[in-house]
Amino acid sequence: MTNPHPLLTYDPAGAGLTDADRAALAGPLQAARDEVLKHDLDDYHSGSIPEKKKPLDAGFIEMPERLLADYRSDPAGSELGRILQSADRLAAAVDRVVVLGIGGSYMGARAVMEACCHPYFNELSRAERGGRPRMYFEGNNVDNDASQGLLDLLGRGTTAAGVDRRWAIVVISKSGGTMETAVALRQFLAALMQSLGDDVAALAELVVPITGNTGKLADLADAIGCTDRYLVPDGVGGRFSVLSPVGLLPAALLLGDGVVQLLEGAAAMNAHFRDAPPGSNAVLDYVGVCHHLETSKGIDLRVLSAWAKSLEAVGLWYDQLLAESLGKDGRGATPLTVVNTRDLHSRAQQHQEGAADKVFTNLIVDRWTRKPLPVGHSDWNQDELNEIAERTLPEIMTAAIDGTNTAYRTDNRPTADIRLPRLDAATLGQLLQMLMLATVVEGRLIDINPYGQPGVEQYKKHMRKNLGLE
Ligand code: PA5
Repeated sequence: MTNPHPLLTYDPAGAGLTDADRAALAGPLQAARDEVLKHDLDDYHSGSIPEKKKPLDAGFIEMPERLLADYRSDPAGSELGRILQSADRLAAAVDRVVVLGIGGSYMGARAVMEACCHPYFNELSRAERGGRPRMYFEGNNVDNDASQGLLDLLGRGTTAAGVDRRWAIVVISKSGGTMETAVALRQFLAALMQSLGDDVAALAELVVPITGNTGKLADLADAIGCTDRYLVPDGVGGRFSVLSPVGLLPAALLLGDGVVQLLEGAAAMNAHFRDAPPGSNAVLDYVGVCHHLETSKGIDLRVLSAWAKSLEAVGLWYDQLLAESLGKDGRGATPLTVVNTRDLHSRAQQHQEGAADKVFTNLIVDRWTRKPLPVGHSDWNQDELNEIAERTLPEIMTAAIDGTNTAYRTDNRPTADIRLPRLDAATLGQLLQMLMLATVVEGRLIDINPYGQPGVEQYKKHMRKNLGLE
């Protein structure tokens, strides 16, 4: 029987490592894997966390298996079962959902939406969306015009009658006190109240908070009496929370029980990471190549070249994951997402001939979701494309990928490929888990705690002071 969810692969052939380089990396990589899978998890479960490791947000590692096991033994009462019920209830009641959150509290959901939904999902009719709601992201800025643009779209000031006019809020903040999200919640809550004719009972059903056990948002949820709410689990940090309720509720709103595949993909990646040796382990090999290039050649700019528009938000999610996790103590590589072939026309010159400080990891989809679209014959052949009329967009994309890899190699620019057999929820789950695992493995390898983001507190402190709040 063929595996319904083949695993993604990592091919570092263009990165220029020798057999000796790979052999030298094997031991340290296995030690870093042990640290993540054994020592970190032991410390995490025992609750006695060494000072040096605090915070230790290792909860994301086993979460996919735990959520799936609970769901299988109790489909209705488990956390995932309840998430699916909340999502179906909201999908039946409203046509638009506004997800409020910033950083790790929204980027994963956006990545899932862009990767797994129709590229113009929000423009489709309700029937074309399979009855799933349109989704918008706010509370990730304090942009006066953007916020009001969305409020306009939601029809502020009008009472919403009928499912097509109704909307709901999913508000996500682990701390419950993040300024951007809190300000947006206040403004969107007021608009939602107005649209419901000040019916607090109706409001309580249409605001779903995802937050910690305590905090300002938890208190507000109590005061409103929100009927459905979810916990950001202890020991799961924002940027590692995409496969917790933080990412799963928005994903369930869009994909329904497709979220099960997201988790199955992540669990498959966990098994691969645990069992496969260096040399055929996507997580360890990816870390090994990036680490080797950084330490032996000073290549500390990591370009993730997504060869599909739908993967841009995955790249931005990963930019945050790597930057916030390892950018500490004056160290840490700089991530950069590009989308090709689009960005070949804005960055390829520098990438080919600029400073030799970059490694290019191609993110390639092997089988597109839609049937290959040919160039097509035309009576107007001024563009001289009739010669390749039978060629399809995937064939042109492959030619561009191979051409770019060849060109970069000529100038000794290291490249490697992450190949996704296709782009669906299961494969995305693999990729998200692979990149989260890779980030913590690298942290342990270079002795930087990948969890926590102490530096981000600085701007928050100054902003609050400037507003007279401290
Ligand atoms: O990765 C992180 O932890 C951060 O990016 C947070 O997700 C972000 O700062 C939002 O924090 P909160 O969920 O507490 O509002």
